[in-house]
Amino acid sequence: MRDSRETFVNHAFVTGYPIKHSRSPLIHGYWLKQFGIAGSYRAHEVTPAAFPDFMRQLREGSAGFCGGNVTIPHKEMAFELSDRPDELSEELGAANTLWLEDGKICATNTDGRGFVANLDERASGWDRISTAVILGAGGASRAVIQAVRDRGVKTIHVVNRTTARAQELADRFGDAVEAHPLAALSEVMTGAGLFVNTTSLGMDGEAAPEIDFSPLAAGAVVTDIVYVPLKTPLLRQAEEQGFRIVDGLGMLLHQAVPGFEKWFGRRPKVDETLRQIIIEDMDVHA
Ligand code: ATR
Repeated sequence: MRDSRETFVNHAFVTGYPIKHSRSPLIHGYWLKQFGIAGSYRAHEVTPAAFPDFMRQLREGSAGFCGGNVTIPHKEMAFELSDRPDELSEELGAANTLWLEDGKICATNTDGRGFVANLDERASGWDRISTAVILGAGGASRAVIQAVRDRGVKTIHVVNRTTARAQELADRFGDAVEAHPLAALSEVMTGAGLFVNTTSLGMDGEAAPEIDFSPLAAGAVVTDIVYVPLKTPLLRQAEEQGFRIVDGLGMLLHQAVPGFEKWFGRRPKVDETLRQIIIEDMDVHA
């Protein structure tokens, strides 16, 4: 899109339904300012019924966007309606980042990259493990399973209240992934070097069940993809039991990096100031 001075100004969006609580505009707004880029990134609410039309307008350029992020409940439809999904989004059946190339909508999913980048930053060496335990088998756990597998972790135990959902993921993600009922949690945790909570347990301060983390390997890392509150009840328990913990906020920040680079041409960094901006926003809207 051209502005009045005939220079290119890129405009990106985050779309979901609802979308008003998204923190992505704060993240991208921080980087746009940091680089002095005259672009924009804004929340754009689109209902599920209107989403196909939104994708058509994006492709035709009439929406005025060069790309953007897609969140709940549009991630699956964004993948299906994109023209050039990459291998990551293809395997997940869901996309969170879109951009235009030659009038085609390209799609990827950056959640897994955000997940591992957060661990790399805050628990360096976390990947020198052979076994991981992932609690939960919903949409959010898929990208985590994929990323942990692609990092080379040999055995990934997916534990879920509804075992059939865990089994679906084991079938989807191949031999490294095994499905288990909740009753097997303690057993499969034995000797594992990474524990990931991908369920909504303990979200927004709700009570979470007590988990005995002691079967994990000494020095194991426990992380939660929920970041409200920053220290979830599960993370608090794990810390009290002597394990290394990593909160989920970094995943949100790091998943935003590849999209920004696509739309605005600069690779941004996740720094402490950005982290604090989001934490302050969480406090304001607590
Ligand atoms: P998301 O896409 O955010 O992962 P989801 O698809 O609703 O959300 O998945 C939520 C996950 O939290 C699921 O693994 C769910 O277990 P089920 O598949 O059995 O529903 C899990 N979950 C939610 N509440 C739970 C609870 N009270 N006890 C155990 N697991 C729970």
